Amino acid sequence: MKIAVTGKGGVGKTTVAGILARLFSDEGYRVLAVDADPDANLASALGIPESQYKKITPFSKMKKLAEERTGASGGYGSYFILNPKVDDLPEKYCVEHQGVKLLLMGTVEQGGSGCFCPEHALLKSLMKHLLIEREDVVIMDMEAGIEHLGRGTAESVDALLVVVEPGRRSIQTAMQIKSLAEDLGLKRVFAVGSKVVDEADVQFIRKNLVDLELLGFVYLSEEVKKADLEGVSPFDVGGMVVEGVRSIKARLVAKLNN
Ligand SMILES: Nc1ncnc2c1ncn2[C@@H]1O[C@H](COP(=O)(O)OP(=O)(O)O)[C@@H](O)[C@H]1O
Ligand SMILES: [Mg+2]
Repeated sequence: MKIAVTGKGGVGKTTVAGILARLFSDEGYRVLAVDADPDANLASALGIPESQYKKITPFSKMKKLAEERTGASGGYGSYFILNPKVDDLPEKYCVEHQGVKLLLMGTVEQGGSGCFCPEHALLKSLMKHLLIEREDVVIMDMEAGIEHLGRGTAESVDALLVVVEPGRRSIQTAMQIKSLAEDLGLKRVFAVGSKVVDEADVQFIRKNLVDLELLGFVYLSEEVKKADLEGVSPFDVGGMVVEGVRSIKARLVAKLNN
């Protein structure tokens, strides 16, 4: 199963993605958690100690590896392979914690149009490999957009979860994402309500989200907030936030199996 998580900055994407990954892993699935947000912090949401995740370099920064795999050598303008071998990379360059393998994608600065470097080719191939060829459960934590997904790979995403909080801006972002997703051929787009405090928040989201199916809600939790300050993962805190994501996951799995 391939699940991508997106939404406006700060709404709780990483929190939801981290808990989802740990829940699947607890059930015995092999899980690849992919941090595709330039502001990468999925590691801490998974409960990976800083000393460990500091060791891994994002794939976007592995210039030498990209050059080796693509056969690029002569600098700008030289020929290189656009579909380099990448199937060994997830195992080689991940940090594993509680059954979840974390990969850091990073981002490659986009030059002018038509600029395509070995790092791009590597990232693109890797994304394709993760979404199309892998048997594992893949949970992808993305930025407030779906730029990482291109034509050809987007169709392989089983579900795009758009996280929204009670607030107009996050809902606007969600609607923009939905329309982009449709253009890319993503068939299943769902919303997840996050940081809700009361029934009024739940109703606000229900009323303002048009044409986007809601899978459920995650409540604002003081414990999660505190845990973040102390460097503890929300999954390990447990309680209602984890239960919220657990029921969202159950609904999602039921929908996808239908
Ligand atoms: N349900 C929640 N209850 C309390 N705090 C939360 C909740 N979800 C997220 N947060 C906090 O909000 C901040 C942003 O969450 P994060 O998951 O990193 O959002 P995003 O990935 O969308 O930017 C973090 O400090 C996080 O601990
Ligand atoms: Mg995040």
